[in-house]
Amino acid sequence: MRPRKKGGEEEEELWVNSSRKDCSLKLIKIVSCIVVFMAGSFLGLSWGVHFNQHVSQTDIFFPTKLYTNCGKVTLSIKNFIEPCNLMHVMTDEELFWRASMVSKRKEYPFNRVPKVAFMFMTEGPLPLLPLWDRFFKGHEGFFTVYVHTYPGYTFEVPETSFFYDRQIPSKKTKQALISTVDAEKRLLANALLDFSNERFVLLSESCIPVFNFPTVYKYLIDSAYSFVQSYDENSNQGLRYYNSRMAPDIKLSQWRKGSRWFEIQRLLAVDIVADKKYYSFFRKYCKTGCFPDEFYIPTYLNMFHGLSNANRTVTWAGWSRGGHHPATYGREDITESLIQSIRNNGIICTYNSKPSSVCFLFAMKFSPDALEPLLNLTSTVMKF
Ligand SMILES: *[C@@H]1O[C@H](CO)[C@@H](O)[C@H](O)[C@H]1NC(C)=O
Ligand SMILES: *[C@@H]1O[C@H](CO)[C@@H](O)[C@H](O)[C@H]1NC(C)=O
Repeated sequence: MRPRKKGGEEEEELWVNSSRKDCSLKLIKIVSCIVVFMAGSFLGLSWGVHFNQHVSQTDIFFPTKLYTNCGKVTLSIKNFIEPCNLMHVMTDEELFWRASMVSKRKEYPFNRVPKVAFMFMTEGPLPLLPLWDRFFKGHEGFFTVYVHTYPGYTFEVPETSFFYDRQIPSKKTKQALISTVDAEKRLLANALLDFSNERFVLLSESCIPVFNFPTVYKYLIDSAYSFVQSYDENSNQGLRYYNSRMAPDIKLSQWRKGSRWFEIQRLLAVDIVADKKYYSFFRKYCKTGCFPDEFYIPTYLNMFHGLSNANRTVTWAGWSRGGHHPATYGREDITESLIQSIRNNGIICTYNSKPSSVCFLFAMKFSPDALEPLLNLTSTVMKF
């Protein structure tokens, strides 16, 4: 039995009690502080994670680094469908992954005017650039230009040129080695980032157009086929370049050769950029004597898109002078009849399953000193 408390004691007890109460209040405060702190940090952390996820997601689809010139990045379709700055910090692996994305929807949520991507592969300068600028003039909105140079090469062109600011992040290439295929894939991948690009042409610094832009545009856009030269050498040579270690993934019967200068439609470009499996065989086994840039795309398309390929190139090369390399045409060689003979040389080819006398849209190789006589012929012969 507890003794009855006296007043003083009661007071004391009250005090003790109140101090105890104070203590427990403090404890509650401390505990709730801890709880609030923990909840806060938990929320903060999870928000941070969420925020980071948000950032990395936007970074994937709207990379801030990619569009440094665009100012503040907003989630607009415009930034997504057409990068306004070609420079970026993506590795090839990152770039190829991003470029090989395809929407499951067939229709576009914007007015898509199909464009032709002109992809120039050069070691450095483009001496025939004034000819191309004249070719493009007045057709803005229907084409894009991409330039792969040697890394570090500063491509100096006036702001008025269609080549201004059109250099893509480049790497060193070695003639006819797998690095050339890498450069081709890099050009394709960068061009794929623009969702309006529908056709992709690979060109060199020595290539020229032999028809005007409207003709070239219509020819390519209306074509049901891609133009990648592809033939079965059906000879000892073909057998020699084929490495049996590629079997059974790549069979000898699937092995094709063709000119490096291709023209392909978007779907095929996506597939080529996405492919790692077949590319790796060429990287491993297509070496000495085997030029990957002449075998990889023709063989790959033959395996998976044979029916979409016209199996011929639209880039003319002069083989009539003999030798292992196409002829180079200089100042003295440029005549009206040369260009006319490329535009229509009596050969009939197949265009959309019908016979056509227009078989070549571009031509190679032209040396820098051919520029002036070529410029003189544009209005009379090439009609631009
Ligand atoms: C191109 O060659 C493939 C075989 O790889 C063939 O199936 C296709 O029909 C050819 N294309 C045309 C337009 O003849
Ligand atoms: C190009 O045309 C100009 C003016 O008509 C002429 O002076 C020049 O000699 C021509 N150049 C060539 C290489 O034909």
